[in-house]
Amino acid sequence: MKTYLVTGGAGFIGSNYIHYMFEKYGKEIRIINVDALTYAGNLENLKAVEQYENYSFVKADICDKVAISKIFEEHDIDRVVHFAAESHVDRSIRNPEVFVQTNVLGTLVMLNCAKTAWELEDGSYPEGKRFLHVSTDEVYGSLEKEGEYFYETTPYDPHSPYSASKAGSDMLVKSYMDTYKFPANITNCSNNYGPYQFPEKLIPLIINNALQGKKLPVYGDGKNVRDWLYVKDHAKAIDMVQEQGRLFETYNIGGHNEKQNIEIIHIILQTLQEMLPDSDPRKAHISTDLITYVEDRKGHDRRYAIAPDKIKAEIGWEPETMFQEGIKLTIKWFFENEDWMKHVTSGDYQKYYNEMYQ
Ligand code: NAD
Ligand code: DAU
Repeated sequence: MKTYLVTGGAGFIGSNYIHYMFEKYGKEIRIINVDALTYAGNLENLKAVEQYENYSFVKADICDKVAISKIFEEHDIDRVVHFAAESHVDRSIRNPEVFVQTNVLGTLVMLNCAKTAWELEDGSYPEGKRFLHVSTDEVYGSLEKEGEYFYETTPYDPHSPYSASKAGSDMLVKSYMDTYKFPANITNCSNNYGPYQFPEKLIPLIINNALQGKKLPVYGDGKNVRDWLYVKDHAKAIDMVQEQGRLFETYNIGGHNEKQNIEIIHIILQTLQEMLPDSDPRKAHISTDLITYVEDRKGHDRRYAIAPDKIKAEIGWEPETMFQEGIKLTIKWFFENEDWMKHVTSGDYQKYYNEMYQ
């Protein structure tokens, strides 16, 4: 029975990954989820698994060496899957420090604690110990020309404090692999969407605002392009990289699904109209009139696009969920989980929203 230490498992992708892993492996694995429960961490995301005997939660900051070492001392960890991070670009522009703290220094603590726990006297590592660092395509910068893609060999060129801090964390992982032969992989993934995504990010923000008849803020000209991947497909890719990927390698993960932001907003509005019953009063106010162009994000990257050729060729992973299907699943989830949205948008979220958009 393998024991997984998942960091940031109470966040969007981490919680989807935990659900995916229990669906796939059931009682064959044990998962320990360590999360500091920042504004983005929410144990409601894990309600369905919290009673499982093979799941446990530790509330701790990944920068806290003592707390993280204790987990490694008390458990024989086989796999680390490291999601915990500050993840929102706009917040990084307003307050970069916490991004460096968690994303860079927190990753260093995770690497050191795993190395100390796993390293044998001769400097090698037991078979089966693996650390997967979850990173982003934003480290590669911005693509200007159509037909260009991010490959694993594309030089790093981060622009926001968020992507710079993720690039820093990737470099630390690379340095541990090169210097200590530390058994790790890095994955660089494109934009995710799906259940449990916090409504500071484009897709859940637009769904939530549209349902409430609030303005839909579009940065700049709305023509920035992102490559959207359904979160369950990302969870599957992470598992496949850890089980079948070559150690020390980086794998890019993407959706083959480039869309301009404004296209995404139109698709959401149309899908909401199709999915809401005629009797629902919200149907009346869901319209393109809500679209409001606002000041552009500072340093806004124009286009991201991943070429997931290596992961397909070596591991056989491909995105499975077409956007039209994924967006319906996402909207359906938000319809069925209105209380979740109410809880995460009460309190601090309103303060953030007012400061950010007014
Ligand atoms: P998220 O913001 O939804 O969740 C982050 C989680 O990390 C939260 O549960 C939070 O409480 C926890 N956390 C933050 N600081 C912590 C700390 N110091 N100690 C312990 N826990 C802490 O983020 P997400 O969108 O789920 O992203 C997860 C990872 O995937 C991040 O590393 C991000 O860079 C990467 N990623 C995200 C996307 C995307 O589209 N969302 C795409 C590619 C890569
Ligand atoms: O590419 C992977 C990255 O995707 C991850 O590493 C990040 O953690 C994740 O947040 C995401 O970053 P983006 O900045 O691309 O995502 P976001 O949802 O914030 O914005 C998507 C696009 O929509 C971007 O071009 C900015 C634009 N946008 C966003 C918001 C929140 C708007 O036009 N209006 C908005 O209100």
